[in-house]
Amino acid sequence: MGLMNNIHPEKAQPPFRQPCVCPWWLCFTFDNVFRKLLQNPESILKPYIMRGWTVLDIGPGIGYFTIPLAKLVGDTGKVIAADLQQKMLDGIFRRAQRAGVEQRIQLQLSTPDSIGIDETVDFCLAFWMVHEVSDQPSFLVDVSSRLKRDGLLLFVEPRLHVSKDAFNKTLAIAGKAGLSIIDHPRIFLSYSALLKKN
Ligand SMILES: C[S@@+](CC[C@H](N)C(=O)[O-])C[C@H]1O[C@@H](n2cnc3c(N)ncnc32)[C@H](O)[C@@H]1O
Repeated sequence: MGLMNNIHPEKAQPPFRQPCVCPWWLCFTFDNVFRKLLQNPESILKPYIMRGWTVLDIGPGIGYFTIPLAKLVGDTGKVIAADLQQKMLDGIFRRAQRAGVEQRIQLQLSTPDSIGIDETVDFCLAFWMVHEVSDQPSFLVDVSSRLKRDGLLLFVEPRLHVSKDAFNKTLAIAGKAGLSIIDHPRIFLSYSALLKKN
C-alpha cells in the first residue's frame, strides 16, 4: 500500500472547461521510445534534482518524466504527479509499478482551478502543458505558492505549438507570480526557462 492510494477514480471526469487539453490517447504520439533520443529525461532533469527532494510534476500526462523523477529523488524522496485526467494518472500508476517506484509517487487529480495539494515542493516541472491552461495568472500563482523559497520551476513549451511571443508572455506572468528566470536550458523542439521562487 503506497502513496498511490490517493487516487479517486469516481472523480475521473474529463476537464470540459479547458478548450484544448491533450487527450490521453494523443500522449502515445510523443511519449514513446523515439522521444528519449531527442529529449532524454534523465539528462534534462538530473542537474536540478537532489535525492530526498519532494518534486511536483504538473501535467505529467502518462508519466514520461514522472518515472525518471522518482528514480532521481530516490527512496527518501517523493514525486507528486498532478493531472486533470484520471486516465493519465492510471497510466503513471501502471508504469510506476513496472519500474518498482510506485511507493515514491503520489497521484493527484487536479482541477482547472487548483493543483489540489497543500504541501510545498523543492522542484516543479511543467513540461509542454502550460499552453493548455486557460487561466495562466492564477495557475502560476498556485504553482509559485507550492514552491519552497528558492524552489525551482522548469517550464518548457513545444515550439510547434507555442509562439516565442506567447512563451514570453507566460514568462512575464510568472514574474508577477514571484518567479525569476535564472536560465534557459536547451531542450529539443522547445522553449524553456528555469525559474526560481523569490
Ligand atoms: C501535452 S501533455 C504533456 C505531458 C507530459 N508533461 C509530457 O511532456 O510528456 C499535457 C498534460 O497536461 C495536463 N494538464 C493540462 N492543464 C492542466 C492543469 N491545469 N493542471 C494539471 N494538469 C493539466 C493534461 O491533462 C495533459 O496530461
